[in-house]
Amino acid sequence: MLRWPRRRLTDLAWRLRHPRWARDRTQSLDPTATPPPPLPQSDPTQPLYRYFLDQRSGLSMHKWHHYFDIYERHFAPFRGRGISMIEIGVHRGGSLRMWRDYFGPGCRIADIDIDPACAAVADEDISIFIGDQADPKFLREVLAQTGPPDIVLDDGGHDMRQQIASFETIYPAMRTPGVYMVEDAVSSLYGDSSADTLDGSTFFDRAFACCVALHGWTRTTRAFRRLGTPPAERKGVVQVSNFCASTNAITFYDSVVVFERKARQEPWHEVR
Ligand SMILES: C[S@@+](CC[C@H](N)C(=O)[O-])C[C@H]1O[C@@H](n2cnc3c(N)ncnc32)[C@H](O)[C@@H]1O
Repeated sequence: MLRWPRRRLTDLAWRLRHPRWARDRTQSLDPTATPPPPLPQSDPTQPLYRYFLDQRSGLSMHKWHHYFDIYERHFAPFRGRGISMIEIGVHRGGSLRMWRDYFGPGCRIADIDIDPACAAVADEDISIFIGDQADPKFLREVLAQTGPPDIVLDDGGHDMRQQIASFETIYPAMRTPGVYMVEDAVSSLYGDSSADTLDGSTFFDRAFACCVALHGWTRTTRAFRRLGTPPAERKGVVQVSNFCASTNAITFYDSVVVFERKARQEPWHEVR
């Protein structure tokens, strides 16, 4: 019997589930057009982009230049607060030193990588855990040691099973408020070896489903009537998912998805 390698099967599943993404993979380039003058990709006066541009720690990192404005926008409120961060993906260790420098004294940085060589960059306030980010059991063991994180940055393997398993395991265990950021999430559109789920589902599918889940209180016209009543006058409690009750926003950037955690209650609309 002919046996297909798993990656070919999962790529086929991805193509069947996302025919338009699979079709739109060619980009047209006009080789005669003049590119516009380059705009700054991030603000070089802000500390994280400055750190990257001046990078001299000796440990390199690989980043898209436009990510730094995104980091500042979501991480700045957590500076100087002794936060706990989990970063998935150590590589040479350059980024975890940047986080320690940025979040300041008292912060605790835990990094996860599948490559045992990464253990070498651990030091007193940086812990390294070696294991597979697609393995929920391993992730729960990490969480048991770190406690609930305030910030999670997934810059690991970028495959679908990895991003989905890490999000599903770590997100519900986080502190509120908090930020869960997935880098290089464009891999949902790659197919090929990034597409490794048997049903072809991607991290984007998971994130789009989260957009629906965010509307647990507001999703019906009947709810609209209830939510026009002042909260103190409402009867009973509408049951929503933990995700809905603890998520304020999901923000999509080019290649980055950000989930902002915040304790929420039933919304209220009113004419004044
Ligand atoms: C993009 S690099 C991380 C870069 C680093 N954060 C930086 O900014 O320089 C990705 C890392 O993810 C790790 N990785 C790949 N697959 C993984 C997996 N299944 N679980 C944990 N780490 C993984 C790789 O070993 C690699 O070090």
